[in-house]
Amino acid sequence: MNDASWSLEIDAERIGWLTCDLAGATTNVLSGTVVRELAAKIGEISALRPLGVVVQSAKANGFIAGADIKEFLTIRSPQQGYELVRAGQFVLQQLEDLPCPTVAALHGFALGGGLELALACTYRIGADDPALALGLPEVLLGIHPGFGGTVRSVRLIGARAALELMIRGRPFKGARALEAGLLDELVPRVELKARAKGLLLRAAPRKTASIVDRILNLSAVRPLLARQTARTLRRSVRREHYPAPYAILDLWRRYGASGAASFEAEARSISELMCTPASRNLVRVFLLQDRLKGLGGQSSAEFKHLHVIGAGVMGGDIAAWSAFRGMTVTLQDRTEQLVQPALQRAGIFFEKRLKDSGAAADALSRLKMDVRGDGVANADLVIEAIVENAEAKRALYAELEPKLKSGAILATNTSSIKLETLCEKLKNPGRLVGIHFFNPVAQLQLVEVVQGAGTDPQVVHAALQFTRRLDKLPLPCKSAPGFVVNRILSPYVNEAFFALEAGIPPAVIDRAAEQFGMPLGPIELTDVVGLDVSLQVGRVLSAAFQREVPQVLIKLVEQKRLGRKSGEGFYRWRDGKAQKEQVQGFVMPEDLQDRLILPMLNEAVACLREETVADADLLDAGAVFATGFAPFRGGPLQYAKQRGIADVTRRLNELAERYGERFRPDAGWPLLSA
Ligand code: NAI
Repeated sequence: MNDASWSLEIDAERIGWLTCDLAGATTNVLSGTVVRELAAKIGEISALRPLGVVVQSAKANGFIAGADIKEFLTIRSPQQGYELVRAGQFVLQQLEDLPCPTVAALHGFALGGGLELALACTYRIGADDPALALGLPEVLLGIHPGFGGTVRSVRLIGARAALELMIRGRPFKGARALEAGLLDELVPRVELKARAKGLLLRAAPRKTASIVDRILNLSAVRPLLARQTARTLRRSVRREHYPAPYAILDLWRRYGASGAASFEAEARSISELMCTPASRNLVRVFLLQDRLKGLGGQSSAEFKHLHVIGAGVMGGDIAAWSAFRGMTVTLQDRTEQLVQPALQRAGIFFEKRLKDSGAAADALSRLKMDVRGDGVANADLVIEAIVENAEAKRALYAELEPKLKSGAILATNTSSIKLETLCEKLKNPGRLVGIHFFNPVAQLQLVEVVQGAGTDPQVVHAALQFTRRLDKLPLPCKSAPGFVVNRILSPYVNEAFFALEAGIPPAVIDRAAEQFGMPLGPIELTDVVGLDVSLQVGRVLSAAFQREVPQVLIKLVEQKRLGRKSGEGFYRWRDGKAQKEQVQGFVMPEDLQDRLILPMLNEAVACLREETVADADLLDAGAVFATGFAPFRGGPLQYAKQRGIADVTRRLNELAERYGERFRPDAGWPLLSA
């Protein structure tokens, strides 16, 4: 029997130590094999009859990170999924039914199946450390816990906390986990083992849900809380897009986490969900994210000192984010007055994100005002984020280049100017790379790493590593107008303006996109980004692809209606919220959603054909992580494939007849069907 993942030792006081240590991996995951091996160990424990068992992990980073997500893709039918899930439930039931008490000794993460395993133990004890994260995040993959987690979590911590844990998918940290009753004890890391053993030896009382939670769990009361939770849920996700959180709620409402039926229903429900396109696509997006994370490779490059030039919206926030991530950053602009607001913004951001005021002060001390640009000579990387003007940028580079230390990288945050244009006067054009962040920097994970025709591939590699140091997701792309993200967004946004000019109310246009699953409609998105910024990008792309710039955008910018930042754009803004007028009696045109979404798909195909991005998966990842393109649809090209390429191109032709040649299918569509 291969027992590579678990070991069992019985100590002098007859306490068993069951340790998970997946061979050849840095992280424990609960693959099918690991679950089978666990079953064998439980059999051994039954035979050896220890006084109690501590279940622990030998990995430094945590307990168990969850299921092996790649295995999900091998499940072909709900029936196959059901059998696998039932087998897993059976093993954890055996763990729960052991005649001796058990305790899960948790450090770092215990997620998904990992936490479900811990829930099947008599006790749970956690190492008090910021890394401790106990969660049931399955909902992010379009499913819910399947190894009894929907049942045992409710029994232990009550429906309110358990539903929060499962529906939001966000783990509980130490103090919250203790307060909720998910943990029996929270102890210093060095005491974890001894205190775990102590719980067993003194046969501590078991935790269960509070009396209030037991009342809320009564069959007469459940529908009330379920209805209220569903109402809140509907505000953030639609059932037809994301069925999993609704399934969690339904399971609880119907079965109240009691009896064998609740386990059976959990297995039925998850195995159906697993095979839905939404879950398949969310799993795909998860794996794409892993791929982007891997693009930086194992980093040996050091980025100790970053110099940022231009302390405006972008430069200021790039500098703040980099200091937040531990780098020393010097920030340059033309005057102190121009840098000051960025430092102030950074201070507020650090306070908010770091909570601990000492850590916030440390971060702020890493970020230094540097109007004279003294930091350039020391910097491993210089990021230029000055105005979007090729002449100004070139003039700056000419001044900068002699001051850069050898091997230092020069990066530009330009959103539209080709690198070939910018590097014209550089002695070493190979050191210029695009590192294109999105606004707001702290929120958007994706960063385009742009390779110009002359960029040294090693510089590109270092830029990829740099983005990983910042915990961003890099999308490598070629220097082309709008790169990838702005390019595919541009026809979506433009079409919204044409629809607006044709008399469709803005709120209706936004609703059509939101119903598709976009996080923000195109009109609201433009207001958030800023109409001036959109117009600037729009002009570059219109010039490159001979397209019309929508008049309505030009007009509003002339009137200084710049969007959220000026208080009014297409909408009026109050307290950070767009005031959308309710439109009575306007029927949404049947083709509006396609009119907005399909041009994005068409442009994505053009990017692929022109090799601006290496493959369809990278393109989909870029669209999901930068534009929020409906993740449950897996990205624009995945959506096109799932809908059917013939159907998409037929519809594009139809729209071209109705609204103009801009809809005509790109010549690259056959590439996708190949
Ligand atoms: P901004 O206008 O807010 O800031 C530019 C800053 O650069 C100003 O503070 C200005 O004083 C300073 N500056 C200009 N010339 C300078 C020089 N020679 N030396 C030192 N400082 C100088 O502009 P924003 O929006 O931050 O954009 C900066 C760059 O980032 C542009 O290339 C833009 O295309 C790009 N970008 C902008 C995004 C946005 O949403 N605003 C998103 C992604 C990229």
